[in-house]
Amino acid sequence: MTIPEFDPQQLALPHIRSLQAYVPGVQPVGGGWIKLNTNELPYPCSPRVAPAVAAEIGKLPLYPHPTSIALRQAIADYHNVKADQVIVGNGSDDVINLLVRAYSSPERGVAVTVPSYSLYQTLIAIQNGKLQEVELPPSLELPVDALVATGAPLLFLTSPNAPTGVAFSKDSVESLLKRFSGIVVLDEAYVDFAQWSGVELLASYPNLMVTRTFSKSYGLAGLRVGYALGDARLVELLDRLRDSYNVDRLAQAGALAALLDRSYHAEVIAKVKATRTVFLRSLALRGWHTYPSQTNFVFTRPETSDGQFGLNIAGSLFEHLYNSRILIRKFPNHPLTAPYLRISIGTDAQMDALNEIIDQWQQNA
Ligand SMILES: Cc1ncc(COP(=O)(O)O)c(C=O)c1O
Repeated sequence: MTIPEFDPQQLALPHIRSLQAYVPGVQPVGGGWIKLNTNELPYPCSPRVAPAVAAEIGKLPLYPHPTSIALRQAIADYHNVKADQVIVGNGSDDVINLLVRAYSSPERGVAVTVPSYSLYQTLIAIQNGKLQEVELPPSLELPVDALVATGAPLLFLTSPNAPTGVAFSKDSVESLLKRFSGIVVLDEAYVDFAQWSGVELLASYPNLMVTRTFSKSYGLAGLRVGYALGDARLVELLDRLRDSYNVDRLAQAGALAALLDRSYHAEVIAKVKATRTVFLRSLALRGWHTYPSQTNFVFTRPETSDGQFGLNIAGSLFEHLYNSRILIRKFPNHPLTAPYLRISIGTDAQMDALNEIIDQWQQNA
């Protein structure tokens, strides 16, 4: 028998009742799509991953190692830090979530830049945390003074940034680290396609944490593995909040195999960067404003044949591509991002197909 007045939502905390969920990019069911909407690698992961994962199947009755010890040590060796400076997560989102759990409250505002990766805001909202949003200027340079002025215990900085693809300069990040009193989290999801990484600053700045992922350059988004590097005391703190078995056995083994295949990793990154160069040239030929990309995606402002641009024009191209089964991403909710579209770098063949459909749209727009 059901009780008519029973409403589980009414029993929830008020901030959970009004929560807006994070909206991930569409993961289409069924084939035939060119998927350029979630910055995945258009190539398979390292061929070493499958046998490594298969070798774990027989061990599935046993729990995985709680701190992903072999992977953790290999990550430490790769970055030339100590294993106690590494925490491995179920995607880097898991580690970002732990940071929010530890530092966000209604009283203490966590700082984020806008625009940036919007999951930060959602996680802070789940925690009923105070949010301190700092707008990026149109130049997209790091607003160091404004960020320092927040006095926040924690700041998330996507570096290079998303959805713009633009990298902050190393000098500006360093001057922020010198002056910021809280922890600066550099979310380096896309850094393998960029020119510099904050890992080289870890030894000098104990208030720096760098997060990384296997979801982009390693082609393992479906496996869900990410990690963070930082001061051992911070890692130990986050370890207390972590799910005991946050990274499953298959994920630990697969990510380790991918990490150790350095030549394959370098090869696919080089391919993505080469395709990026060609695609950026094609956008320049169209005369569209496109930000200089240090990531595996580009952020471009589509124009009609008579030079118009804006929210509706971006929406029109988005729809046209969608109807041709090409998925990209639009960000209509901020004036800086609304006239632009974010397009992940696919294979050369996928980018050629995309360009053909854009030509078609431009002829009719
Ligand atoms: C800036 C940024 N950080 C983190 C992530 C999530 O990474 P993961 O798959 O490791 O959770 C993404 C994914 O799109 C991202 O864009």
